[in-house]
Amino acid sequence: MDWALLRSDATYDVIKIIDGRFFRLDDHLARLRRGSERLRMEIAESWPEVRSILAECVERSALETCVAYAIIARGVPPLGMDRDPRRARNRLYAMAVPVPWIIRPDDEDRSLAVSIGCKRRINPVSVDPTIKNFHWMDFVVSLLDAYDHGADTTILLDCDGNVTEGPGFNVFALKGDVLVTPDRGVLEGITRKTVMEIARELAIECCEVTVSTDDLRRASEIIGTSTAGGILPIGSLDGVMVGDGRPGRLTRVIRAKYTEWQHSPKYTVAASEAVGPRSEY
Ligand SMILES: Cc1ncc(COP(=O)(O)O)c(C=O)c1O
Repeated sequence: MDWALLRSDATYDVIKIIDGRFFRLDDHLARLRRGSERLRMEIAESWPEVRSILAECVERSALETCVAYAIIARGVPPLGMDRDPRRARNRLYAMAVPVPWIIRPDDEDRSLAVSIGCKRRINPVSVDPTIKNFHWMDFVVSLLDAYDHGADTTILLDCDGNVTEGPGFNVFALKGDVLVTPDRGVLEGITRKTVMEIARELAIECCEVTVSTDDLRRASEIIGTSTAGGILPIGSLDGVMVGDGRPGRLTRVIRAKYTEWQHSPKYTVAASEAVGPRSEY
């Protein structure tokens, strides 16, 4: 009877663990915390405890490379079918599971075939996409349609016909020399943030702007970014090749830097170190 199941009333986050180390764990926890506060949810566990529980899930799973989920659910109201969300006891669900690879790390030349979604992304006026949520029916129906057309995944437009995001990933397009990514109507992905930081470090111009369907169709490179999938080269759009259809030069440069950062102590923490209380909180 949890409202997370009955009403998609939950927020969540997914964190990547590579070789036993969390990538940008505190950025993910900060996003989760912001989302849960905006949904007026409060769990019994403190934030240092959430961090420690996630690390314990990873340790118990014995998976060196995996993804950890933290779901904050509205929970169950005390009296069965009570309709007042304020009366539900909010709950934390945590788990560590194998990585649902989209492209395996050793498959460096692979790129994805994408189709534009048959559904438009849910309007941000109704559901705030910056709170990571389970309102995925638009994604799921578009994904089924993409599979019917032989594509690997889908990118959804908003109600004005501009680019938003895909099921579980943000989108970047190379327009001339400038990397552009939608400035609104999307989750502020941690991988998206990382790519913007990499662009700054490599002196690649990168802007958050309105990205039209034409921008996407004319782009010389298109990249999807996600925690689970990493840097995802997109090789075709609605059956038309992007560039030569293979991962582009800039995509490869960004992917190499991203892989480097994923192993850097600056951005990672060992699961074994994250278990237990943390004084800075
Ligand atoms: C709708 C949506 N957009 C974008 C992303 C990518 O965000 P991140 O890079 O934080 O994984 C996700 C991740 O699951 C997502 O669900």
